Amino acid sequence: MTEMEQLRRQCLDCRACPLCRERTHVVFGVGCVETDIVFVGEGPGQQEDLSGEPFVGAAGKLLDEMLNIIDLGRHNCYIANIVKCRPPHNRDPLPQEQDACIGYLHKQLEIIRPKIVVCLGRIAAQRLIKEDFRITREHGTWFDRDGVQYMAMYHPSALLRDVNKRPETFRDLCLLRNMARALGCMPEERP
Ligand code: URA
Repeated sequence: MTEMEQLRRQCLDCRACPLCRERTHVVFGVGCVETDIVFVGEGPGQQEDLSGEPFVGAAGKLLDEMLNIIDLGRHNCYIANIVKCRPPHNRDPLPQEQDACIGYLHKQLEIIRPKIVVCLGRIAAQRLIKEDFRITREHGTWFDRDGVQYMAMYHPSALLRDVNKRPETFRDLCLLRNMARALGCMPEERP
């Protein structure tokens, strides 16, 4: 069994916080473990809870389109969340819930060892880049964390609510593609 599969099985049994009581499925993460690019959202919504897969609802469809623009797909990157179980009524995951769950994400990143991590929205950026991250001001900015390049973009749900944010996100996607090319981590360039 691979290390990721071992971790997934452990996560499926997790009862470390109260979110486990209401869940239908643990939403562990999907994609390619041999990738250089990881996307991190905040936590599962209703569709994700029902299916067990991240970003399958309306926001997920938009994420697929965003990936498509830069020639990426679910099969050649990895997608995960800060918390693996759905917060009730899609509220933000509480700090205690994030604390209880973040170890799984850290382990996922340790196994994958990506060169680029893209935070989708404020919650992921505040957890992975810096506590006082301001998404409106700092999306599209690169942050080096132990040699890994981190960037945040608006969460696809925010782009569904406010189409005016889409041109900025298109620019962020171009920045991401440029960085991925510069680091040799576009799928077609990997050895
Ligand atoms: N929003 C997220 O942050 N993650 C998902 O998996 C779905 C919606």
